[in-house]
Amino acid sequence: MEFQDVVDRRRMVRNYAEQPVDPAIVDRALRNATHAPSAGFSQGWAFLVLDTPADVRRWWQATTEPSALASPDDWLAGMMRAPVVIVPCSSKAAYLRRYAEPDKGWVDEDEARWPMPFWHMDAAMASLLILLTAVDAGLGGCFFGIPPERDQAVRAEFGIDPGFDPVGVITLGHRTPDTGAAGSPARRGRKPLDDVVHRGHWSGH
Ligand SMILES: Cc1cc2nc3c(=O)[nH]c(=O)nc-3n(C[C@H](O)[C@H](O)[C@H](O)COP(=O)(O)O)c2cc1C
Repeated sequence: MEFQDVVDRRRMVRNYAEQPVDPAIVDRALRNATHAPSAGFSQGWAFLVLDTPADVRRWWQATTEPSALASPDDWLAGMMRAPVVIVPCSSKAAYLRRYAEPDKGWVDEDEARWPMPFWHMDAAMASLLILLTAVDAGLGGCFFGIPPERDQAVRAEFGIDPGFDPVGVITLGHRTPDTGAAGSPARRGRKPLDDVVHRGHWSGH
């Protein structure tokens, strides 16, 4: 698919067909994720992959109230059909360590040096490559957040290394004609370029 078509077609898909996903596509998405840029080439990311019905079920059990699981709303019902769940994680420690190496020299590992939490940024960039690979392969995907009160349950259920933080979660699967619960774009339009682009000087207050 042409790159521009991939970008234009990308939507968060919240309703999936039962059809399984070719494991080769998941492998390609993960390989592409590791081609994301990373600060200092730290690559402080990791990806928990759940691609069996039993493991996907464990995801929803760990992150959902039993009552909601018993009678899922449209969002949950559509999402739970996704045959693949990927949890991108970031390691702040990996970045602090990497930037303490001689070529960077931040040996005190002081977090105040960091202009932004690059560890989360890099995991987000990797996540976008997963989403774009899904579109290129004719699939759909959705990135969404993990409720903070579920963080511990997720870590415990899947044995996530304590040095890593899940930054969110991605469902992958075949799209249905109805891509699922309407996201924000159904209620609010994309902002015009003139509202978000400021050339030479911030304008439009
Ligand atoms: C960091 C982040 C968190 C998001 N969290 C959720 C979420 O919890 N539930 C959900 O349905 N969609 C979630 N989304 C998807 C957004 O709602 C969606 O990207 C936005 O409405 C624009 O729609 P589009 O991606 O289909 O163009 C999230 C997206 C991002 C980037």
